[in-house]
Parts: sequence; structure tokens; C-alpha cells
Amino acid sequence: MNRRKFISILGLGTGAVALTTGLTSCGNLESSLSAANGDQDTSYGWNGPTSEMKDIRLQVLAYAVLSPNPHNIQPWIIKLTGEKEFELYVDPERLLPETDPYYRQIHIGQGTFLETAAIAATGLKHEAKITLFPQGMYSNTELANKPVARVRLEANDKVETNPLFAHILNRHSNKREYNNAPLTQAQVSELEQFHANYNQTPFTLVSYPAAKKQLEQVLTKAMKIEVKDKARDMETIKIFRFNDDEVMKYRDGFGTAQAGLSGFKRILVENFFLSRESVEKDSTDFGQQAVTMTQKTAASTGTFAWMSSKFNTREDQVNVGREYCRINLKTIEMGLAQHPMSQVLQEYEDMLPLQGEFKRFFNIKDADTVQMLFRLGTAEMTPHGPRRALKDIIKA
Ligand SMILES: Cc1cc2nc3c(=O)[nH]c(=O)nc-3n(C[C@H](O)[C@H](O)[C@H](O)COP(=O)(O)O)c2cc1C
Repeated sequence: MNRRKFISILGLGTGAVALTTGLTSCGNLESSLSAANGDQDTSYGWNGPTSEMKDIRLQVLAYAVLSPNPHNIQPWIIKLTGEKEFELYVDPERLLPETDPYYRQIHIGQGTFLETAAIAATGLKHEAKITLFPQGMYSNTELANKPVARVRLEANDKVETNPLFAHILNRHSNKREYNNAPLTQAQVSELEQFHANYNQTPFTLVSYPAAKKQLEQVLTKAMKIEVKDKARDMETIKIFRFNDDEVMKYRDGFGTAQAGLSGFKRILVENFFLSRESVEKDSTDFGQQAVTMTQKTAASTGTFAWMSSKFNTREDQVNVGREYCRINLKTIEMGLAQHPMSQVLQEYEDMLPLQGEFKRFFNIKDADTVQMLFRLGTAEMTPHGPRRALKDIIKA
């Protein structure tokens, strides 16, 4: 059952606000967790909250797992630390060391999780009191066994529901080709105003022809560099889901559906052109496809955006994740499609010269860190990526 089906079956309309009204009857934590273990939903869509979830932590977490995260690897571990409290850790088994050697993107993916949790809490008449790095922050080249955040949920009938709550279930990264139209001036103004009100990390939107041309070239070159290395290729192939059986088994990663393939074309590609066996034997064609798709998707885009920060501590990365998540929810509200393209931002050695070229062209200070680079536009929705069951994320 996917998220949209889930809502329509319950007859709750399109708003996540309405969904919460279906959550008020409940059991204890044990039965809630067993309800959250995914058995009730064998599809690869959303797996919670369910009507059995009484525990506010589980309800909030069931929304938080829907947040954007690199390669949909879902790098989260939750420890339940108090009646209304949990801690978030990076899952050390779910990293992308080849393409994200310093775990920067993984930490952005902690921020997106926290922000979705905070927004969901408001829709459930709670406030999320978030303390970042409660046992101290670690350096941005290491991963310590310390919590990224402690989250305390406080009931508050007067809390105003964040308007972005209504878009958590629909938010997704749209990787398909767009229709080439840049954002209108009204859309640019609305996004810039939203950003100025709620975010701090400098945010740039570009639509002029020379910028578009440059980004198309840079992004395509970046993908060419990325797929030149076997270990990097294998990292992506490992998390790529080649068919529905893999999606159902692992409930993470991404596949052809998220790239916009559907119907007969998808069946054809998955059955005759794309198999794990052949791609693992020789990834040349897979890499070439990635380059072609990057070129086509970039060329179909009228507006690009990036967020760059002066500092690059773990806290900065988490905060960027929170801000990126808000922007993504806002663009969904505006009926826009959004898609990160991160290759040129990555820190491995052979990407750095191209990254320098990209920064120089757009007058970005060499010392600044471009944390997220993404495209915006108009396109039909793509199916939601899968998510693991909560029981696989909660460790205590
Ligand atoms: C830090 C970060 C980097 C990402 N980089 C890319 C990327 O380079 N290419 C891409 O197609 N998607 C990228 N994404 C999007 C993820 O693939 C996407 O969030 C994930 O598959 C979950 O899907 P959803 O956002 O539709 O829920 C990135 C997301 C984050 C948070």
C-alpha cells in the first residue's frame, strides 16, 4: 500500500492533518511496535503510523522516516530514552564511504529526519524540543558513537500545526525529466521569502541561460567522474533496486520507478536490460546510463538552486538538512518538483578540480561548502521510495 492509497483507503482525503485523526485509538508500546514492524503492510510504500500506534514517539517517527536522505539508505538509529523522548544516532552500518567519505551527506540526512519529526509533532499537537549533539559534537571527519540529537516531545494543545505538515506524505525527490520551464518570478519570490523567514543558510536560485548551460555541463562531467571508479559504482549499484522483489526485500534504495519509468517501459527495462547479475559483472553500461540520464535531466531543467554554508561542522550539516527538508516541503506545496544532484559536491579527490570550477563560475567562495545542489521545475509525480519498518530503526 503506498502513502496515497493508505490515505484513500482510510477515506481521509489528501491532508496529513486528517490522517492524524485516524491515530487516536491505541495500544501499548509493545503492540504499537509490533504494528510498526511492517507486517501489516507488505508493500514498499509507507509503513506507518497505524491505528494501533498510541505512543507519540512512534507516530512522530513514522513520519520522520519519510524524510529525504542520501540514496535512501535511511542512516538512522533510534534509542527510546524516556517516556516521550528518543535519541537519534547515525547508523554506522548505513554509510556511503566511497561517495560521501566524510559522512557530510549522511549528517544532512539526520537534519531532514529531525525536521520532519519536528513538523509532524506539531500536527500531533506536540512540540519537539530538540537538543543537537547532547553528548558533544564530533569533528566533521569522524563518526563518533554519540547521539546527533535528543528529542523530547511535549504535549501542547495550543501548538499551531506547521502548514508543511500537510505535505509530508506527498514530499518526494522527483528524478524524472522536467519540462524545461524556469520558475516564474512569483515562484522565485515566494521561495526566497519562505527561505528568508525560516532558514539561515544562504540559498541561491539561478535560471539564466548561461547558468543553466554551465550546470548541465558540470553535472554531466561530475557524473562521468563518479562512474569512472569501480568502488564508487559498486556502492551505488549495491543500493540500486533492480526490481520490485529487491524493493520489497530491502525497503530502501531507489530504482527505475523513482527515475520516472512506469508501465510497459519499466517492465521491459527491468526484465531485459537491467539485472543485478549483469551490472555487477560489468557496470560500464550502467554508468553510461547514469551519465545520459544526468545530462537529459539537467538539460530539461529551467531553474537550479544551492545552499552553501560558511562553516561545515556537524551542526551546520544537520541544520542544512533541516532547511533543505523545509524547502522540499514548501516546493511540494507550490506544486513544484525538486531533485538533488550531489556528485559535484562530493569530497573525494578526483572531484575536487571540477568542484573548484563550479564554485569559480558562480563566484562561490572557495572556503564555503556547497551543501545541497538541486534542480526545480515542473513534472509529474514519481512513486515514493520505499521505507524500512520502524522496528528496524529502533534499537532500544
Ligand atoms: C544529502 C542528500 C543528497 C542527495 N543526493 C542525490 C543525488 O545526488 N541524486 C539523486 O538522484 N538524489 C539525491 N538525493 C535524493 C535521495 O535520493 C532521496 O531523498 C531518497 O532516495 C529518498 O527519496 P525521497 O526523497 O523521494 O523520499 C539526495 C538526498 C539528500 C538528503
